[in-house]
Amino acid sequence: MFFLELIGASVVTYSLFYLISLCIVDCDLELAFYSKFGRSPRKLKGKVVFITGASSGIGEHTARALAKRGVKLVLTARRKHELERVKQDCIGLSKGQLNDNDILVIPCDITNLSVHKQIFERTIQHFGTLDILVNNAGRSQRALFEYIDIGVDKQMFDLNVFAVVNLSRLAVNYFNEKGSGHVAVVSSLAGVFGVPYSATYTASKHAIQGYFGSLQTEKVGTNIHVTLLCPGPVYTNFLQESFTEKDGEKYGIPAKSTDRRMTAERCGELCAIALANKTQESWMGLFPMMPFAYAAVYFPIISRIALKTLGPKKLFKFRDSKEITLEEVDIV
Ligand SMILES: NC(=O)c1ccc[n+]([C@@H]2O[C@H](COP(=O)([O-])OP(=O)(O)OC[C@H]3O[C@@H](n4cnc5c(N)ncnc54)[C@H](OP(=O)(O)O)[C@@H]3O)[C@@H](O)[C@H]2O)c1
Repeated sequence: MFFLELIGASVVTYSLFYLISLCIVDCDLELAFYSKFGRSPRKLKGKVVFITGASSGIGEHTARALAKRGVKLVLTARRKHELERVKQDCIGLSKGQLNDNDILVIPCDITNLSVHKQIFERTIQHFGTLDILVNNAGRSQRALFEYIDIGVDKQMFDLNVFAVVNLSRLAVNYFNEKGSGHVAVVSSLAGVFGVPYSATYTASKHAIQGYFGSLQTEKVGTNIHVTLLCPGPVYTNFLQESFTEKDGEKYGIPAKSTDRRMTAERCGELCAIALANKTQESWMGLFPMMPFAYAAVYFPIISRIALKTLGPKKLFKFRDSKEITLEEVDIV
């Protein structure tokens, strides 16, 4: 009898510890462990990391976190002047570990698949190698499912999915020849569970989880690693740059500094830790994102009950720190 009580008490203590931990950390428990006791991003010093969408937000801050540790960088995005600014900041942050030649800026529209081979070859020509590709460029969406133009679905998949897959195939072929390498993709918690008012975005990130989940399985036991980085709400230009339901339109409403979002700096640091520790999938987000993500994946019945009780608008409020209005998704 005493033995059964002991098992019961252990299960309750373990569950409570788990639940409380999830409410105080800003990432999944594996990443939280690595941030304290794992490999430091310093171990990546001297490696060459290629980052798409490096001109702002999560891409910029991942570059900054890596530059501090002496990692050589390839920075791509469309805005050349922003890339040059990030490059100079990174050289400064490296405190003498990196010079002008250690950071290569390649401005390009990543949806133009015909330039991928060229930018990839330019990287290898410049550094003689590539160690990690971080696919980060992407855009979100605010719209209601039934009003979305199919043109928006296609454009978002071109950017968030097909550009990522095409560039990654080049990298994986190169890593196969080299015998080692690491591909990372900035997915999203929207790739882990269904997020309201962002159907195309959610679908694009689920597609990413599918493509790279398969790649992870294919590469088990090899020296090629695949990391899915899944942030929740982060404070970046992301919201105003979002697609809506209309072709050619941007959401245009910036996130407010008072919104409950993780800073891009913290997200960049967590991405650097995930890369250094070659995690398979890492979740990041302020409370209540972690308990919600764990419930959605491990206890779907609990998340369904919570969703029914709260409703999609409340869930949206957790994401954007405000209620969505019909005008904002252009419903009249
Ligand atoms: N912020 C969040 O709440 C959040 C949450 C989960 C996941 N994410 C993911 O994080 C990634 C980065 O987003 P962010 O939040 O850092 O937003 P951001 O500040 O708007 O950064 C987006 C980056 O992508 C680049 N980009 C956009 N379209 C491009 C194109 N056609 N060709 C080349 N580069 C392009 C932008 O550079 P240019 O404009 O200079 O081209 C910019 O550097 C995205 O994949 C997003 O899905 C963000």
